[in-house]
Amino acid sequence: MSMWSKNASWAADGELFIAGISATTLASEFGTPLFVLDEDDFRSNARRFIDAFEEAFGAGKVSVYYAGKAFLSASVIKWLEEDGLNLDVCTGGELAVAKLAKFPPSRIEFHGNNKSVAEIEEALDYGVEYIAIDSFVEISRVEKAAATRGMIQKVIIRTTPGIEAHTHEFIATAHEDVKFGFSIASGAALEAARQVRGSTHLDLQGLHAHIGSQIFDTDGYELAAKRIIELLATIRDESNLELPLLDLGGGFGIAYLAGESALDPATVAKKMCAVISSACEAHGLKVPHISIEPGRAIVGPSMATLYEVGTTKSVTLENGGSRAYIAVDGGMSDNIRPAIYDAEYTVVLANRRSTAALQPSRVVGKHCESGDIIIKNVDLPSDIAPGDLLATPVTGAYGRSMASNYNHISRPPVVAVSDGKARIIVRRETHEDLLRLENMEG
Ligand code: LLP
Repeated sequence: MSMWSKNASWAADGELFIAGISATTLASEFGTPLFVLDEDDFRSNARRFIDAFEEAFGAGKVSVYYAGKAFLSASVIKWLEEDGLNLDVCTGGELAVAKLAKFPPSRIEFHGNNKSVAEIEEALDYGVEYIAIDSFVEISRVEKAAATRGMIQKVIIRTTPGIEAHTHEFIATAHEDVKFGFSIASGAALEAARQVRGSTHLDLQGLHAHIGSQIFDTDGYELAAKRIIELLATIRDESNLELPLLDLGGGFGIAYLAGESALDPATVAKKMCAVISSACEAHGLKVPHISIEPGRAIVGPSMATLYEVGTTKSVTLENGGSRAYIAVDGGMSDNIRPAIYDAEYTVVLANRRSTAALQPSRVVGKHCESGDIIIKNVDLPSDIAPGDLLATPVTGAYGRSMASNYNHISRPPVVAVSDGKARIIVRRETHEDLLRLENMEG
């Protein structure tokens, strides 16, 4: 899969178009920095997960939960609703967006390692289908909220199956040093299942694991599935209860740079299906309903960020070479990933073609911080000048959703483009928005 969304194209003069709209038009109409979301790309990425997993497991046997933490807005939630997706939220704030968009509660699951009592109550009052129980403390919190309401709440248990998934490898660990969920190896997950089963207000539906993010190797998913199925069998042996649901989380890897390739949903689905079917058969279990929670793989490739170049300079390096510093009008406030994960992105000149020689360059933001780097090393045309537009692809996941107001920068808008039309789905913040938080009486 290319790094650009499916409706990105380049005109003869080198200008970038997304869904038929030029970079210059987008920048002049909506300003920069700007997140541009290719609606069709988002929707087809989502559809690919449904199709791939239904093809492997069978229609009606799979639920795809879009992980809203990657990027959430009411418009996107409407697309999910129309396209048959479900929604994974992990805070009251994400739930509030779902409520604003009137997303059916029967298609929501609520995650989080430290849900407050208020968040749990709000989720129950809205009627969310599943609460993913993450700790012993939470069992009694959810039970109490359900009891007060005289209801029985469906829950799943988040397990940690002892797998550390890395980009290109996985390491099976004896115990998990993570804040999420119940360890399978230590027996905590089994004990949680006992406690939940013992509650008259909780209905244990299944087990969950999310092994990590940006995963390219299916072995981690397969091992997680095997360990969870063993636990399903233990629970069945203990209680005669066959849990109907197995949720394998998200984490499907995507390409950020040329030469990288995404994890193909069809390949993962087939491999997971083979492993799950044989493990279930070995334990005499029916194959449970399968849920997955992709976030990044749906929204990541569907967005690009447009920036305008503000200043440039050249520095001499110790080795005698030189480097251009190209400063754009955003930075670590709209893309924190390079600063905190060493994440790598690429960038192109978006408003024209240049025939100038390439030079080693660094694309930086406008924040008062030398680590405010969007792209550390990239060769860019030497004639890039103030007023040029740069575009960074694959910024949809954890870009806008992790954006900050550092240095009192207003967070950029998100514009959805489709068939030559653009519409704002999240507007740009204004100074007024920021100042609204001030208490002048304080
Ligand atoms: N399900 C659960 C329970 C999760 O915790 C996550 C991500 C997902 C699904 C979705 O994972 P995805 O398919 O998007 O990889 N801020 C980091 C990523 C943190 C992911 C947290 N949990 C980043 O920018 O790479």
